[in-house]
Amino acid sequence: MEHQEVIPLMTPYKMGQFELSHRVVLASMTRCRAYGYVPQPHTAVYYSQRATRGGLLITEGTGVSATAQGFPGSPGIWTPEQVAAWKPVVDAVHLKGALFFCQIAHVGRVSTNDFQPDGQAPISSTDKQLSPDAESGTVYSKPRRLRADEISGIVDDFRRAARNAIEAGFDGVEIHGAHGFLFEQFMKDSANDRTDEYGGSLENRCRFTVEVVDAIVQELGAHRVGIRLSPFADYMDCVDSDPVALGHYMIQQLNKHKDFLYCHIVEPRMAIVDGHKQIPHRLLPFRKAFNGTFIAAGGYDREEGNKVMAEGYTDLIAYGRLFLANPDLPRRFELDAPLNKYDRSTFYTQDPVIGYTDYPFLEDDDNNESN
Ligand SMILES: Cc1cc2nc3c(=O)[nH]c(=O)nc-3n(C[C@H](O)[C@H](O)[C@H](O)COP(=O)(O)O)c2cc1C
Repeated sequence: MEHQEVIPLMTPYKMGQFELSHRVVLASMTRCRAYGYVPQPHTAVYYSQRATRGGLLITEGTGVSATAQGFPGSPGIWTPEQVAAWKPVVDAVHLKGALFFCQIAHVGRVSTNDFQPDGQAPISSTDKQLSPDAESGTVYSKPRRLRADEISGIVDDFRRAARNAIEAGFDGVEIHGAHGFLFEQFMKDSANDRTDEYGGSLENRCRFTVEVVDAIVQELGAHRVGIRLSPFADYMDCVDSDPVALGHYMIQQLNKHKDFLYCHIVEPRMAIVDGHKQIPHRLLPFRKAFNGTFIAAGGYDREEGNKVMAEGYTDLIAYGRLFLANPDLPRRFELDAPLNKYDRSTFYTQDPVIGYTDYPFLEDDDNNESN
């Protein structure tokens, strides 16, 4: 047989104690199909379709408590019923030989009273209300500013959720410190208007996130903990006046834990250069500063992924929309096969099949069972 050169994306990599067979990670994606916040049998189908031997999958944002929710059908991991429902999902992924991390999340003020216990106000670092979402028309409720003495309770919610994730069989957790949710509402200076020890200086604004990192590391061991950050993002009215300093400060805190597993950072939005969309590639200094495995995400395709991997820009790349629409994405990259197009209209709908488990595999691959 003709020898085919292995593309950089398909080379093996050792992430802490975990042996990965390739660099194509499933990025966390909220899919709104966990009815009543409980993962369903179709959740297992969806993730196992995307599992490969030695691949790494990250779940959708998964709520750590009853106050953490803000999307219909996003799963939780705070009740015994939720933990029990995750087990067959994790088993299905493990059966295919993949690693599975649970992204644990709290939306903070990206919520409404309807999602909250007893119709209370969503909690946040602030009582500033988020602007309504222009696309979906969602009007977020006015949040309630957490008192400093309540914060240790939220840290405990994360600690418990992390322990639950391990009980459900996950290989580790990814702390969702990105995209304008609760951690960013503390970390970023456009949102955080506190005057106590959780507001003001960079150190104070990052205190809550660092407390959660420390608590989860204590609970699980650093070798099973990753974090996702998006210092450059401006989602949900969360912008920082110095995203580079923010990213570096957080990395310093992660590096205090020997063997902290991974740091996953989202690129700034695509820029238009000479009429073409381009990834700004601002993450290299973070990669250099961080001691563990580095994951980059945001706008990557096969060509761009291979290019940056060959340059040593990152260790792994998380793919979102392309993986959503191509359950056998690593295989397609390997073969340089054409890709299915994603259908944005079904990203967040509740159907258990349409736009979820019905994206086709390559025809000749027999549902990817060989992987
Ligand atoms: C439908 C959808 C849901 C998403 N949900 C999450 C989420 O729950 N947590 C998260 O960190 N990012 C979430 N993201 C962002 C993706 O993980 C990823 O960073 C983004 O899609 C950019 O990568 P891409 O260009 O490869 O799609 C979501 C993206 C999409 C398209």
